[in-house]
Amino acid sequence: MSFNKSKEIIEEGDVVILYLKPSNMHSLEVKAKILNKKGEEIDNVFQTVYGALKVFSLVGQKYGSKVELSRGWAYVLQPTPELWTQILPHRTQIIYSPDISLIIYLMELRPGSIVIETGTGSGSLSHSLIRTIRPSGHLYTFDFHEQRVSLASAEFNRHGLSNYVTLKERDVCVEGFGEELKHKVDAVFLDLPHPWLAVEHAIVTLKRTGGKLCFFSPCIEQVQRTCTELSLKGFIELNTYECLQREMKVHYKSLPVLDLECLKYKHTHEDMAQRNEKEKQEEKLLTVTHAHSLPGHTGFITIATFPPDHARK
Ligand SMILES: C[S@@+](CC[C@H](N)C(=O)[O-])C[C@H]1O[C@@H](n2cnc3c(N)ncnc32)[C@H](O)[C@@H]1O
Repeated sequence: MSFNKSKEIIEEGDVVILYLKPSNMHSLEVKAKILNKKGEEIDNVFQTVYGALKVFSLVGQKYGSKVELSRGWAYVLQPTPELWTQILPHRTQIIYSPDISLIIYLMELRPGSIVIETGTGSGSLSHSLIRTIRPSGHLYTFDFHEQRVSLASAEFNRHGLSNYVTLKERDVCVEGFGEELKHKVDAVFLDLPHPWLAVEHAIVTLKRTGGKLCFFSPCIEQVQRTCTELSLKGFIELNTYECLQREMKVHYKSLPVLDLECLKYKHTHEDMAQRNEKEKQEEKLLTVTHAHSLPGHTGFITIATFPPDHARK
């Protein structure tokens, strides 16, 4: 239940993140017993590169605390959508946190928003959408892949999020989003190979007061084709973004100190020699440099507005 609300103490049934280092994190369900491959019930012991952890021993510990493993230690963290995106089992390509933040901002989501998402895929975006719109909003998420739907549904249950999400197995390009969502929705998000085929179906779900449609596509040809369809169907304010991260590192570094005083005067060779000598002096200065290289293109995010009934031509 720990995805649902902020907690201090770990309880039985929580999902926690075991943090060994940024590139080595695991999600664990805090229960005493698990089933092995033969279907037999065994003690829930989790193996890491620093030894084993009896998972049930986490009950009563504080979130954020350091826990002992048989050959080292790790931190036990409360799960967040950002951490989940880093460790979730990939069943599809997923959307990562920098793109997710831009998507949520562009769709103007907030607690209470009613949102459609398709396809659900691995549920990476879904977790962030749910955190943004709860407790009074709702996410309707669709995917036509049976196994992905049932795995995502089990995850939402395990994470205590099922009250905020309705998951349906459906080909939205053929069947649409259903009568029950007609004019109920604030925003529709599409992560599909053919988003243009879902535009007409999306329109009927948007509130009469208007709404947003956002889609994520890796290729510019998909963007062009969908934008053409959006314009034809009356969408306005179309904008496409590519979210590229450029991380800068702030740290102390030894740099030569330039003495530019000499530029004020006529100088001889001797002066220049003295000046070069001075330049060799170094000082530790606070500097900003590029950090390690980060992933580049993931996809294009396009946002469009559907005007309210009275403002439509
Ligand atoms: C790239 S994945 C979505 C990943 C997801 N946004 C995430 O962050 O985890 C695309 C998903 O769309 C689903 N899909 C493709 N076409 C569809 C359609 N016409 N109707 C419903 N789902 C569809 C696929 O089964 C796949 O799971």
